[in-house]
Amino acid sequence: MTANTAGPADSVASGSSGSGSSGSGSVGSHPSGSGSVAAGPSGSVAVGGAASTAPVTAAPGLEQRAKAVLPGAAYEFYAAGADEHISASEATDAWRARRLLPRVLRDVSSVDTGLELFGSSLALPVLAAPTAFHRMAHDEGEVATAAGVAAAGSLMVLSSRATRHPEDVAVAAGPWWYQVYWLRDRDVTRRQVERATAAGARALVLTVDAPYVPPRTTAPLPLPRDDELCRSVGAGTRLPGWEQDPSVGPGTISELRRMSGLPVLVKGVMRADDAEACVAAGAAGVIVSNHGGRQLDRAAATADVLPSVVRAVGDRVPVLVDGGIRTGTDVLVALALGARAVLTGRPVLWALAVDGAEGVSGLLDSYRRQLSTAMALAGAARLSEVGPDLLHS
Ligand SMILES: Cc1cc2nc3c(=O)[nH]c(=O)nc-3n(C[C@H](O)[C@H](O)[C@H](O)COP(=O)(O)O)c2cc1C
Repeated sequence: MTANTAGPADSVASGSSGSGSSGSGSVGSHPSGSGSVAAGPSGSVAVGGAASTAPVTAAPGLEQRAKAVLPGAAYEFYAAGADEHISASEATDAWRARRLLPRVLRDVSSVDTGLELFGSSLALPVLAAPTAFHRMAHDEGEVATAAGVAAAGSLMVLSSRATRHPEDVAVAAGPWWYQVYWLRDRDVTRRQVERATAAGARALVLTVDAPYVPPRTTAPLPLPRDDELCRSVGAGTRLPGWEQDPSVGPGTISELRRMSGLPVLVKGVMRADDAEACVAAGAAGVIVSNHGGRQLDRAAATADVLPSVVRAVGDRVPVLVDGGIRTGTDVLVALALGARAVLTGRPVLWALAVDGAEGVSGLLDSYRRQLSTAMALAGAARLSEVGPDLLHS
């Protein structure tokens, strides 16, 4: 478990050495393979521009820094929301609209942001969401992301649209899960799942909110053309059998469990009745998500639907959430609304583009420091003390 001395977030040096410990130096070492892969030198990382020397933090401005170094089509693809970008642009504001009711006279001289999640000890309840095509942001792609996530003591969900093979990512990663689409060509799905399981994935995440994928950008994506993996996952170049099967149903959960022997979380759940169906079908966890506003535009904000899903699921399985979570205080709000942990998508891509593995670890370290400070100021010394009473209704 991780014990941090809470303090004003800004007073702690940000960034990480990438050597397996987190930036503040007060975080216990993480039982991951984080030390086994050196974080890439920041000078070798950014695609399309020089890496910035300023540390990466979960702060306004990170996206602009990434935009300055990313190829235009890569930035557009990462930033895109569906249609009119209504859901994508409302996500963060929905967290920010919540108000807190801080407790006082509690001993917060030491704050612990650590947790156990499906057998993995994590330094913070902020996971890297599955996102496609990291090689557009960094030459090392998902390997660099995994190294950064491990250095911060967190967990990465590797996308099945990743541009590095799971075995390579596993060498750099701490604990990691594998995200699955139920593909039209079931043999491809089976091979992907078996490969990820053999490489050491600790859980599967079945994404169910993308039975069809709307076109997101028109410009060709800057993925290496000569790389077979990039061709087979890449939008515009993949074979029809690699597209999602829109007939995916609750039975898929048990099929994946049988295929892998791993717990299966379902990602993309927005409704209490669907969450109930997932749990009844054997889901080990539910991830409330609208895919970062990239699927159905005008889908509700995850902050607004999280409480109804939490009520439906109760304490049978953990509920996680993503979408627009940008600060440690957003994380505190999500936990107070009943999430066990959160995931963050685009900020990880921005951090990867700006400063590779070090950028990713710096980002997650800053989420941890901000959360630690927010918990201290709200009167919660550990995550088990974060509850709905902290919210001003
Ligand atoms: C560029 C990009 C690619 C994504 N690719 C995937 C994917 O391959 N699989 C998946 O389940 N979700 C994917 N997502 C959705 C994320 O997992 C996550 O739900 C979303 O990014 C959370 O919102 P945030 O970016 O505001 O944090 C992607 C999101 C983005 C922005």
